[in-house]
Amino acid sequence: MLLKVENLNVFFKGKHVLKDVSFDVERNEIFSIVGESGSGKSTIAKAIMGLIPYQGIIERSAKDIFMIFQDPGNYLDPLFNVYSQIIMVKEAVKESAGMDIDKAINLVGLDVEELKRKYPHQLSGGQKQRVMIAMSLARGSSLVIADEPTSSLDVLIQKDVLCAFKNMKDYFSSVVITHDIDVVYYIADRVMVLKDGVVQEISKKDDFFKSPKSEYGKRLLESFY
Ligand SMILES: Nc1ncnc2c1ncn2[C@@H]1O[C@H](COP(=O)(O)OP(=O)(O)OP(=O)(O)O)[C@@H](O)[C@H]1O
Ligand SMILES: [Mg+2]
Repeated sequence: MLLKVENLNVFFKGKHVLKDVSFDVERNEIFSIVGESGSGKSTIAKAIMGLIPYQGIIERSAKDIFMIFQDPGNYLDPLFNVYSQIIMVKEAVKESAGMDIDKAINLVGLDVEELKRKYPHQLSGGQKQRVMIAMSLARGSSLVIADEPTSSLDVLIQKDVLCAFKNMKDYFSSVVITHDIDVVYYIADRVMVLKDGVVQEISKKDDFFKSPKSEYGKRLLESFY
């Protein structure tokens, strides 16, 4: 197991935003968290990354946890070429056992020479997301938390990026946060449905799409078909 969350509770200025959230993430799986806006999905990610105070237990057994945001443009530095930024991210880990950088870049379907030449604004949104995936490979991260990694992308490009996540399952597990049931269908091994900070169900993807356990899960599925 790479991550275990037990009875996670988060309060923002007295407002109870996450209520006894529990789940775990296994090796080589894509665990998706789905829920509508304001349900607390990003708050879970922030708690896992240790960015906000919380109550409960978060056991992080993953060697390195890497976070990918909706808009990676905010994360990449406009002043440096993209390749040098991948080097930096890799070297930030002491004794990194991560993948060779050129190999990581090829694996996500990007071109090494191009990334040495180009600055972030010269890449498309989908390319930038794939740069982030290459970064996590180069670091040797064993868990990637991706918060709405495709919601700012065109549908076809979304598929490319989701496919890249799927292809990386041998290298890292992912927690993919989305409000989009299509993304769950395409990518997830298991799904956790969240509503108003409360877990409605955790199911294997196939079981969920065949017969969701929760009323709210059923409602979500009606919007899918
Ligand atoms: N820093 C903060 N201070 C106060 N309230 C916050 C803060 N961050 C989030 N919240 C509140 O916590 C709740 C959960 O927010 P969160 O961002 O986790 O939702 P989300 O599921 O990620 O939504 P979205 O799909 O819109 O990204 C919301 O009611 C939000 O208003
Ligand atoms: Mg969010």
